Amino acid sequence: MFRYLPEQASSVAPEVDWIHNLITDLSVFFTVAICGAMLYFAFRYKRRDNQDHETPRIEGSNFLEMVWTVIPTLVCIWIGWEGIVIYQRMVEVPKDALEISVQAQKWKWDFEYENGKKTTGEFVVPVGKPVNMIMRSTDVLHSFFIPSMRVKKDVIPGRFTHITFTPVKTGTYHSFCTEYCGTNHSAMLASLRVVSQQEYDRWVNDRSEEEAMARLTPEVRGAKLYKDKGCNACHSMGEDKLIGPGFLKLFGKDEALADGTSVKVDENYLEESIKNPNIKIVKGFAPNQMPAYEGQLSDDELRSLIAFIKALDGVKEIKLDDEPNFDEMEAAADLSPAEKGRKIYETKLCITCHSLDGSKVVGPTFQGIYGKKGKLADGSEYTADDAYLKDSIWKPAAQVVEGYPPAMPAYEGQLSDEDLNNLIEFMKTLK
Ligand code: CUA
Repeated sequence: MFRYLPEQASSVAPEVDWIHNLITDLSVFFTVAICGAMLYFAFRYKRRDNQDHETPRIEGSNFLEMVWTVIPTLVCIWIGWEGIVIYQRMVEVPKDALEISVQAQKWKWDFEYENGKKTTGEFVVPVGKPVNMIMRSTDVLHSFFIPSMRVKKDVIPGRFTHITFTPVKTGTYHSFCTEYCGTNHSAMLASLRVVSQQEYDRWVNDRSEEEAMARLTPEVRGAKLYKDKGCNACHSMGEDKLIGPGFLKLFGKDEALADGTSVKVDENYLEESIKNPNIKIVKGFAPNQMPAYEGQLSDDELRSLIAFIKALDGVKEIKLDDEPNFDEMEAAADLSPAEKGRKIYETKLCITCHSLDGSKVVGPTFQGIYGKKGKLADGSEYTADDAYLKDSIWKPAAQVVEGYPPAMPAYEGQLSDEDLNNLIEFMKTLK
């Protein structure tokens, strides 16, 4: 009864669940026993025939007092002892643990590996190997929680905390921020992929994405940062207003400020507003929403972001041509079609507009997209099968899904047939 805990995916999970279930069962047992006895006596000795009946007088019993004092005390000590032993096992870091640095910031999780590989919103670990995550926050109190691993700990500015666990099965798991930290607290998620040691080695040593990044034009690099740094949570690529202003046609505009003055949106204004957003608040927007990025972005990242905002002039399409070298990447790894598809998703910047976690960015999420049915903007029905997905990638404007802007560039001639099939294979894995 009452077995509602999530999947057990770490070595300590069965023990945590065992003690959790034990406490639940004991609580249920005593609640039912005590409330049941109370109800029974209330009924058994209620006033009858409009007249009080004397109840039997029972004198105290030392034996009974002993029993119901000693037994529960022993049970409590036992549970306390088990809890201490299991907790000890949970916090002890094995010597050969894989270390991952975690940086929490409103509202994203950054991870850094021992070899310098960096990710945001996703981290990968090998199955069967202990992991030690060393966590720190840049701004406020957050809390890192991976339910399937049964670990959770506060992440505190100005102090290091850690969690450690040993994953026992492969798969994709969710982690959450579980301490309310502001507007987008609920979107502060990260996914954990537990993979084989072989796949992990390949992944962690695959730096082609970072190298490819260095070869991209500043605006494409900016587009990727826009997504990776989580700017897209608050700033749309259109003109619509989310928590912050939209980026489309923002550059060069005369922006009215909350204090009644106005400012021309140029490079200096954008730099100031990214580094210290509260200095000039645009009319109609609340202060203290955006974190200050002073010291958070390199000069190159800052310039790339500004180039990206500048490029969103409504005329120019962000150029995706100067792309990473796929032959090199594929030669380096014998990836499955779905894995190749994931690469294309990341490097062809599908990632900028299509999420994997169900959230709506500019375009529909890819989670569960394969086989999905729905309505197009023109009212007709569609089923997302191979043919539909192919057409939508080649010529997106021909079948726009209801509720979305016709914002996607046509990939006809930009992707090979094989790339396209791999991408669809990848979509099929996103249940
Ligand atoms: Cu970070 Cu809630």
